[in-house]
Amino acid sequence: MAHTESALPLKSLEGKVAIVTGGASGIGEATARLFADHGVRAVVIADVQEKKGQIVAKSIGTERCSYVHCDVSDEKQVKAMVDFTVEKYGQLDIMFSNAGIRSKSDQTILDFNFSEFETLFGINVRGMAACVKHAARAMVEKGVKGSIVCTASVVATNCRGGTDMTDYVMSKHAILGLVRTASQQLGVHGIRVNCVSPSAIATGMAASAGLSNKEIQMIFGPFTPLKGIALSVNHIADAVLFLASNNSAFVTGHDLVVDGGFISLPHSIITEN
Ligand SMILES: NC(=O)c1ccc[n+]([C@@H]2O[C@H](COP(=O)([O-])OP(=O)(O)OC[C@H]3O[C@@H](n4cnc5c(N)ncnc54)[C@H](O)[C@@H]3O)[C@@H](O)[C@H]2O)c1
Repeated sequence: MAHTESALPLKSLEGKVAIVTGGASGIGEATARLFADHGVRAVVIADVQEKKGQIVAKSIGTERCSYVHCDVSDEKQVKAMVDFTVEKYGQLDIMFSNAGIRSKSDQTILDFNFSEFETLFGINVRGMAACVKHAARAMVEKGVKGSIVCTASVVATNCRGGTDMTDYVMSKHAILGLVRTASQQLGVHGIRVNCVSPSAIATGMAASAGLSNKEIQMIFGPFTPLKGIALSVNHIADAVLFLASNNSAFVTGHDLVVDGGFISLPHSIITEN
């Protein structure tokens, strides 16, 4: 389904080759579809949900969309997925490193579970770093002045969005560190590195926490100053499109928060509620 409300010109990604990790559902799926609407030459969906990933790739069109099974926590699989993209489509212009999981259980530091922490960090942090590393290497090798976008979260700035998700909140802080350091290091190659930070949306991740869209609205609505509109995956896809395209040509090291004002609401107002 085309996301037609985007204000950017429909050819803003013409000729570009993109990877979307976690592209089989939620934010990644919406972004892969928006990239296709905006003229991307090819988009590779990298995910561990084989069936869903294949369905999304087929509906975008197999002539310009491939699904690759890739567990981002395994650096070898990430390298193989980037190599596949460059071999099949000639180069890599855009990496949307988005795959992530939520905390397996709510926990404070008093009952912190290191086994769950290691699994989560393997995907949310090591996986993100592996995607940035191998995308950047492929871009440098081909002399491509590419764009890398990671998915962080509002909890990287205001942990009120996830007070008991200690490992998840830690992992999203790490993404800001990754984006800030990598953007400094890769600027010399003309490669930009940014992130998007959504507030809560009803995706597969939210559903796995047993939260419906209505429940998310009830929890986050009172803390969201912007009224009359609910955050959707399409709003995040629009932000990623901006960062991926040449419309953000001088933007790097930036955390683009998409939250209806959630993080800028004074802490006193949040705690009173
Ligand atoms: N939904 C929210 O409220 C919210 C808010 C802020 C940030 N985020 C972030 O957005 C990103 C996307 O999540 P979403 O909300 O679209 O949820 P989602 O569950 O719909 O999508 C996540 C995707 O990542 C994939 N994935 C999980 N582990 C993987 C692995 N090891 N290797 C490859 N792919 C893997 C899943 O199969 C899934 O398709 C995540 O990084 C998440 O932390 C989500």
